[in-house]
Amino acid sequence: MEKIQRAWWKEAAVYQIYPRSFCDSNGDGIGDLNGILQKLDYIQGLGVDVLWLNPIYDSPNVDNGYDIRDYRAILAEFGTMEDFDRLLEAVHRRGMRLVMDLVVNHTSDQHPWFLASRSDRNGPMRDYYIWKDPKPDGGPPNNWGGCFGGPAWTYDKDTGQYYLHLFTPEQPDLNWENPAVRDAVFDMMDFWFQRGIDGFRMDVISMISKGGYADGPLRADGLYGDYTGQCANGPRVHEYLREMNRRVLSRYDCMTVGENAAVTPELACQYAGFDRGELNMVFHFELMDVDGGETRRWELEHPWKLTDIKGVMTRWQTLLDGRAWNTLFWGNHDQPRPVSRFGDDSTEESRVRSAKMLAVCLYLMQGTPYIYQGEELGMTNTHFTSIDSINDVQTRNAYRERTERLGVSHEDMMGVINYNSREHARTPMHWTAGRNAGFTDGEPWIALNPNYPYINAQSQVDDPDSVYHFYRRLLAVRKGSDTLLYGHYRLLLPDSEEIYAYTRTLNGKEILVVCNFTGKEVRWNLPDGWTHGEILISNYDGAGAGNVLRPFEAFALRRGGQSET
Ligand code: GLC
Ligand code: CA
Repeated sequence: MEKIQRAWWKEAAVYQIYPRSFCDSNGDGIGDLNGILQKLDYIQGLGVDVLWLNPIYDSPNVDNGYDIRDYRAILAEFGTMEDFDRLLEAVHRRGMRLVMDLVVNHTSDQHPWFLASRSDRNGPMRDYYIWKDPKPDGGPPNNWGGCFGGPAWTYDKDTGQYYLHLFTPEQPDLNWENPAVRDAVFDMMDFWFQRGIDGFRMDVISMISKGGYADGPLRADGLYGDYTGQCANGPRVHEYLREMNRRVLSRYDCMTVGENAAVTPELACQYAGFDRGELNMVFHFELMDVDGGETRRWELEHPWKLTDIKGVMTRWQTLLDGRAWNTLFWGNHDQPRPVSRFGDDSTEESRVRSAKMLAVCLYLMQGTPYIYQGEELGMTNTHFTSIDSINDVQTRNAYRERTERLGVSHEDMMGVINYNSREHARTPMHWTAGRNAGFTDGEPWIALNPNYPYINAQSQVDDPDSVYHFYRRLLAVRKGSDTLLYGHYRLLLPDSEEIYAYTRTLNGKEILVVCNFTGKEVRWNLPDGWTHGEILISNYDGAGAGNVLRPFEAFALRRGGQSET
């Protein structure tokens, strides 16, 4: 018998909440902590175990909370520390856990540390951030461009130096080489653990150690150099994470997941290897990049192939097995809606079938599922006609830079925004068919997707065939099966561009997962020995009947005669 290395965070499913767009309790048009509190029945009903909240700290909101002004205060729009404590207690009372976002690659430029750092070249806090002298011609220290447009350096004329910001100028990068910065960050993490939280999702954590400051290779847009080679997976990143683990994480029963740009499965086994004393899991970008949607987000064409998805997932499933633990996600607050991107939202029938199919395909693999709010309803991308209606700083800056400097037309740019902007994920959650989808009694901070009258939580909770109930059943099936939780993955039909099929195997037990990624009927045959399998879940009545898979058909079968116990 193979021994299972159990952990609660391996068996859990995570529900990601973007608080600003989840539920508004007081009519100011902005989602808040009390809104989340009101929806705990709904969340728990789905069968998830962990809530991950996007940042809720005090922030000027240049990047919606990813620019933190005070790590120890709640953003006033979201509520108070008392509201937070009440929410945390209510989550715990239900046997669920709460994970916060840890944003420590950078702070807001309004953080007191940065105000002090920028004010005095020789002051004690100067080295909290990364300051460099201008080039002899007065220009920035190197050619790096920021991830959200413009250069990655901003000049401070009072002190005559540039500071580094991998994102917007309002998000200066912290200098992790300075031990005082690490002390301050670890202290702050401790503060939240002492309040009772259960872990952290760590924002762009693979970028905290900078390896050097030479010019980078020109990016595809030709405007700036790319910093990834020197900033991602830098020379001291593992040392910093081990120090964090030793000084903070190892003292709590918590879970951690890093957002690791430019991570490979091999590197993931370092960041999240079972014996490494760093993190529990990492988010990688390879699945989000099969259509170039991450590294080439604003290019006009985004074709993808099923064999590319299989290639990525199979490498991660295989290389991490027994060494580290996978994260499983189709989307998050930085990505468009999965059913619009990888499924088919063109008709109601195809939307519902393909949303369920995507869930079967991914969440029955080895790893912890992360479900982004609204995904469990099959919420779709919306349609933007003007850049003025968009809030997201990344999208706005890209629009400006590409129309003004690269000559891209308005129509082309709106086309790619309608495919790929992260704004799609940030439209409010659909609760009801009523006014503003039940998200707010006031004026919503951001326009709703107009399809809420027929895609909303209330109608789906009342409908046993809904995407919502399918997610609920799927999570229950996963949780009830050690084979699905811990089994080994093996890909079948590697060359098919239509069918994704794989098995999960543990101690002689076997489960087969089959998904038709097309809206057409596809001919196929059940592999030998599966004809008497037991259907664990299926998005049609009956499964795998005959030699045809129906449009977006998906099911899981347990081998005939086997059971879990
Ligand atoms: C991460 C976050 C994203 C944010 C960026 C800068 O990628 O997920 O929303 O804009 O980091 O903090
Ligand atoms: Ca509110």
